[in-house]
Amino acid sequence: MRALALLLLAGTSAIAQEDLTEELAAEIAPDASGLVRKEGKLGDAARAKFKTAMGVEAPAKVVYFEGEAELLTGESGKLEKVRICVVPLKTKKGGGQLGVCVAPAVNTIVGVTVKMGDQEFEEVPFFMQFTSYDYSSDAIGRPMSHLDATLKKAAQAADDEQKNLRGLVAQQQLMRRIQISSDTLSGKLERQEASTAEAKELKKVFDAVDKSIADLKFFSAKDKKDFGEWMTESRASLADIEAGMGAGDMEKAQEGNRRLLTACNKCHTAYETLFREKREPLGLGTGYFRADFDLGTDPGVDGELQKAAASAVRKAVLMLEEVK
Ligand code: HEC
Repeated sequence: MRALALLLLAGTSAIAQEDLTEELAAEIAPDASGLVRKEGKLGDAARAKFKTAMGVEAPAKVVYFEGEAELLTGESGKLEKVRICVVPLKTKKGGGQLGVCVAPAVNTIVGVTVKMGDQEFEEVPFFMQFTSYDYSSDAIGRPMSHLDATLKKAAQAADDEQKNLRGLVAQQQLMRRIQISSDTLSGKLERQEASTAEAKELKKVFDAVDKSIADLKFFSAKDKKDFGEWMTESRASLADIEAGMGAGDMEKAQEGNRRLLTACNKCHTAYETLFREKREPLGLGTGYFRADFDLGTDPGVDGELQKAAASAVRKAVLMLEEVK
């Protein structure tokens, strides 16, 4: 028994918070400067928030690095304070480490990195989705049961408020799916790997977006028209990507993808804020990191690892937001 326990330990190379070195912090946040190691604690209110959100006690102390970085989503040249920590990751297949960089003042996750044994996860869509992720400070501190209750209400869709909820939930879920497929597609184009799978999947998801829009009672006739134009542009781009990929014409597929990414940006510029403002007061802030709401699932990553990582990110953000 003794030998077995030792073997198991050897296979679990989960690292502790204290193992965070400056070198590792710089790997997690390559754009950060002026990194300083710090140790702090969570105050009583922060500990209570952590326990409500995670269902377990907060750690007694938090080891982290603090520095500054220019954010992808911020004004150019503007530096934000960033904090970096590592959280151990454990799955049945072994242990590892998840590094998180957060800009707490603007509720943005700068990025997440993961290592399991000698396996690194670079350019993996599941982890890329945390880059520039905007979370709600309220939602991240709520218990999971709060989201469950809201999703249940949304599913009933018995009145206009519940229909709005259903439409807003669908939009989140579908956009996260779109993000994973879009990143997978861009990766394949970069590697010159012809595949029509992602364009087909994206077409399906855009169809579902179209359907869900009917639920949004706050959408005006003008909104429907403008939104519809970006949907049409997206569909046309997807047709080009699919045709290009199908014929091995990577130039055409690349061009289609550039058009698609422009359509994503144009529609977001017009509508992201509106949706966020409608969602938040209805209890649908993001920051639960759940596959049935605000996170996409990646068929290329072990499901247990995705769950463990989502929970580890939530823990890390809660610690880094509140540590003093
Ligand atoms: C026709 C409009 C439209 C198009 C085209 C579109 N989106 Fe979105 N997207 C939205 C709206 C609206 C939201 C806000 C949803 C919310 O806040 O719940 C959103 C939110 C998102 C989010 C959530 C993150 C955030 O910052 O709130 C991601 C990720 C996303 N979209 C990815 C994509 C990608 C990738 C594409 C292109 C392949 C794309 N979207 C194309 C309308 C669009």
